[in-house]
Amino acid sequence: MRQHRRAIALLAAFASLLACSPADAPAAAAHRPGASGIGDTDFPDDGNGGYDVRHYDLAIDYTPATRRLDGVATIKAGATQGLSSFNLDLLGLDVSQVTVDGSPARFTHQGGELTVRPAEPIDDRATFTVSVRYSGRPQPATSTTNLGTFGFIPTADGAFVASEPNGSKTWFPSNDHPSDKATFAFTITVPAGVTALANGELTGEPATSGGRTTYRWSERHPMATYLATATMGKFKLRKGSTPAGVPNLAAADPRFASSLDKLYKTSGEITDYWSTVFGPYPFASTGGVVDDYAAGYALENQTKPLYGGFDPDEGIIAHELAHQWFGNSLTIRRWKDLWLNEGFATYAEWLWSEHKGKKTADAIFKDHHSRPAGDPMWKYPPGRAKPDDLFNQSVYTRGGMTLHALRRAVGDDTFFRLLKSWAADNRYGHVTTEKFIELAERMSGKDLKPLFAAWLYQPRRPA
Ligand code: ARG
Ligand code: ZN
Repeated sequence: MRQHRRAIALLAAFASLLACSPADAPAAAAHRPGASGIGDTDFPDDGNGGYDVRHYDLAIDYTPATRRLDGVATIKAGATQGLSSFNLDLLGLDVSQVTVDGSPARFTHQGGELTVRPAEPIDDRATFTVSVRYSGRPQPATSTTNLGTFGFIPTADGAFVASEPNGSKTWFPSNDHPSDKATFAFTITVPAGVTALANGELTGEPATSGGRTTYRWSERHPMATYLATATMGKFKLRKGSTPAGVPNLAAADPRFASSLDKLYKTSGEITDYWSTVFGPYPFASTGGVVDDYAAGYALENQTKPLYGGFDPDEGIIAHELAHQWFGNSLTIRRWKDLWLNEGFATYAEWLWSEHKGKKTADAIFKDHHSRPAGDPMWKYPPGRAKPDDLFNQSVYTRGGMTLHALRRAVGDDTFFRLLKSWAADNRYGHVTTEKFIELAERMSGKDLKPLFAAWLYQPRRPA
């Protein structure tokens, strides 16, 4: 009897080993290397598997004259599997030391992948802190496709830092994919006289000693890595708040000094207007930065859109500020859904025009719709952004047209309630096209699949 019971207990233990539930799994199988990509099949090397970043603490020292950067990135993360090793994305730059939870870790750095092997493996669901000491002269990314130059771009007096889609790895080790958002703190030290502008708000006054000034910025809301910036140079600043009371900071390179007041006022006015159309502003401050960088390029860096080398007009300010809701607060999980950023921000430009009593969104829509059937836009379905042609005009314009077609189908009342619900339900989270279609159908009570199929997925002009 006794023996018999013991045999059953042994059998049960053996069976639970075979079943291999995580808690009972043998140690060797419980820890394995994290994947070198996060699983975006269009960008297989971007991001990493096996963990989720909660917070980046970036300490950066930069000297424009020598273009040398010294950095320490301290990253707090949670494991999503047992990890014997894991990767960070980092392109160029020399890594001198890596620690995990304070203990030195072995590492290799090849191409854009920094592989870290902690002294002790990390258990599934454990939180850990990895610290990377690195230095060198950051080089921007120049893509083989049509993305141009992005990431950390040195300028005569500092750097223009705009990293969409995957240029964060040119200046800090990261899980460089929008599906992993985190909060950020920045400590940036530059020669006195240089201003360092990062996301979020200044924590304390910049402090100067020994001819160098340290700026501390903190972004307390989750942020995708591509929206992080540390734009540096000579800047004229204007600080205050929007008429509705959102802290507002505008900065302009001395060459664009005459743009400063307009940038400040327009950014404030538009931030407040979007708050009435899309719902409460998602972040703790707004503003904009105009730098002297000849690219005709703008990026919706969180709280501080960046405009490169031109005097931004209302249209582009309306666009980049609309991204604070659509792109920054609501973030795509996969790049193929980029129209959820660019289509919405483009449609916002049309809404701004309509609001100002200029051309209505409907008139703008009709202009675009009258483009000949052979226009390249009709061949490119915007609902599936192509990795080798991510920022195609169709993703912007036909994406915007999709929203107008939807507005016409469901009526203004439902359409504008939908925009607000979309922004509220997914605030600080991740979104997909499927989720949007589902909400639109639920709120309108209509079958909208044919409309979205025609506008987002057909390689020809919708009727
Ligand atoms: N999101 C930016 C905009 O709204 C475009 C970024 C283009 N990125 C690039 N690497 N070319 O205008
Ligand atoms: Zn945009």
